[in-house]
Amino acid sequence: MKGIVLAGGSGTRLRPLTKVVNKQLLPVYDKPLVYYPIETLLSGGIRDILIISGPEHSGDLLNQLGSGKDFGARFTYDIQEKPEGLAQALGMAEDFSDGEPVTMILGDNIYTADIGPALRNFSPPGAKVFLKEVPDPERFGVPVLNGDRITNIIEKPKKPPSNYCVTGLYMYDHDVFDIIRTLKPSARGEYEITDVNNVYIERGQLRYEVVPGEWIDAGTFDSLLRASTVIAQLRQKS
Ligand code: TTP
Repeated sequence: MKGIVLAGGSGTRLRPLTKVVNKQLLPVYDKPLVYYPIETLLSGGIRDILIISGPEHSGDLLNQLGSGKDFGARFTYDIQEKPEGLAQALGMAEDFSDGEPVTMILGDNIYTADIGPALRNFSPPGAKVFLKEVPDPERFGVPVLNGDRITNIIEKPKKPPSNYCVTGLYMYDHDVFDIIRTLKPSARGEYEITDVNNVYIERGQLRYEVVPGEWIDAGTFDSLLRASTVIAQLRQKS
């Protein structure tokens, strides 16, 4: 299993904090934000990790994270010239993955519970996503649930079909790269990860788990602040 951390994007919702600093390098309590998704991958025994960012900040990420030795891991870096979607970024990892399945995590997503076991129990063929019940599903990809199956995922629906959203952690077999090659950009001009996941649904190969603990998408001022508060409270308890 290979890991991919997406640390590109524009971070427009966090301007001016992200004018010169990469979103993923902003502080969350006592560490840069990106450390948390990296630790999530490590908890699942994933140590060979590709870090993808835009050209503006790749040097800063390399300076901060280095070779991976300090994490007991091996980091490789690549540059996404333009932030044209999560699926486009994932497509860059084909050579890196070298025929193995991949786990992709968004560089601004924090999972407080230990989801290492859920990562370790994935085996190809197919794909797996991680859902969370949220008060504002219309901001995300929302699954249509039928018993223990997802029958469709709708990106940012006006009328959400459930209170769950698809969080920023995804596991795929190697077919994902062939699927990405067939994608067309969406109305907002991005290659959507939701389109990839819907192909796995059509194949009857998309599994899911509901995320225990807290899940924080730290891409807004309020959620970034909440991330620091939640982590500080967890540190005081431990
Ligand atoms: P988003 O939060 O959806 O986008 P963004 O980071 O550009 O922020 P904003 O909407 O405020 O402008 O991205 C989720 C994560 O994925 C984030 O960690 C950045 C990363 N990302 C990429 O690496 N490449 C991409 O093409 C996109 C769209 C996002």
